Amino acid sequence: MEMYDGNALARALFGSMSLRSAFPVLRGEIPPGTRSTWSYAFMYKIVEAHTAGLNIKQFVIEAPRIARKQRPGQFIILRLHEKGERIPLTIKDSDPVAGTVTIVVQGIGKTTKLLNCLEAGDSILDIVGPLGHPSEIEKYGTAVILAGSVGTAMALPTAKALKQAGNHVIFIEGARSQEMVVFEDEVREASNEAYVMTDDGTYGEQGLVTMKLNGLLDAGRKIDFVLAVGPVPMMRAVARITTPLEIKTMVSLNSIMVDGTGMCGGCRVLLGEKSKFACVDGPEFDASQVNFEVLMQRNTMYREKECQSLKEFEEHKDEELAELRAGLAARENEEAQLRATMNGEEKHYV
Ligand code: FAD
Ligand code: FES
Ligand code: MG
Repeated sequence: MEMYDGNALARALFGSMSLRSAFPVLRGEIPPGTRSTWSYAFMYKIVEAHTAGLNIKQFVIEAPRIARKQRPGQFIILRLHEKGERIPLTIKDSDPVAGTVTIVVQGIGKTTKLLNCLEAGDSILDIVGPLGHPSEIEKYGTAVILAGSVGTAMALPTAKALKQAGNHVIFIEGARSQEMVVFEDEVREASNEAYVMTDDGTYGEQGLVTMKLNGLLDAGRKIDFVLAVGPVPMMRAVARITTPLEIKTMVSLNSIMVDGTGMCGGCRVLLGEKSKFACVDGPEFDASQVNFEVLMQRNTMYREKECQSLKEFEEHKDEELAELRAGLAARENEEAQLRATMNGEEKHYV
């Protein structure tokens, strides 16, 4: 698979070596062909940041190479600081002209909560992408998208593409409560029919997204394709409805990812008897084949450490944010000096 982003690759190759000392290596010895993968924009500037729902934030980030290549269903992996973990996030939108990508982040643990503290003007240390296979877009007929909370943002690009391809798109958005309902206007625009379901009935209809799916089927609606994006139990429940009916159903698997290149094995999922890597073989898979129990088990493997890490973060949130910003400022300074050293040569690496 191709790795489009040079910055993450550079960091992977040169580890803790400073950019300044790495540059002569980059300048002299990169093999032909890989040269064009180096990016001059070392860090990724956040140009817009706003709250989209409870604990949910949308960011527009400068990432021109990724913006040029992104297709619906693909994601990025980002890292906030040198010692930070890598986390995958779906690209909600991209603007190849402005050179930006849009991501939506639900703050559920240490890294996503720290990320959601950032604002326009801050930077992301490194981003790699676009990763994963794009969604398969065909003219199926009637396509139903079921998405829960932040999954709505993840499903939107595919919903738009399915509508553009001539499908009748029914979007069923689910959320626990009204304040978790996000992007309703965009959902309505990306679909021909839209329904909002809330667990507590504070908005839209009360019930789960699968209730609405069952309602459509009971009403005799012919459904040709289903995409489910959200918590594993929701995707499993959708698969249990559509598999016996032989409705082609894809699910976007949120397995734990580290490198995003098929090397670490972190995102291994079981499809029937076969092992697949969600990062390179997915993230979308045929729901009828997915072993959701194994996925749930693997996703909870580090729960204790994640809880501990979140607890420590909540206790020292301000210090963590200040430390992150200080690190980014130092890096920015280093990059400014590097650009001066490069004397305009950085344009060869775009
Ligand atoms: P933690 O407390 O560390 O973890 C909370 C839970 O998140 C874990 O139990 C585990 O199930 C999951 N998780 C933890 N680390 C990872 C990891 N490295 N990779 C994947 N899952 C992990 N979330 C969004 O808010 N918006 C998105 O657009 C989005 N897109 C995704 C696309 C893909 C392909 C995948 C696999 C996941 C996506 N996620 C998205 C989920 C997001 O990556 C996790 O919520 C995030 O990694 C949690 O990190 P944390 O440190 O905040 O939470
Ligand atoms: Fe490492 Fe998929 S994230 S193999
Ligand atoms: Mg984490």
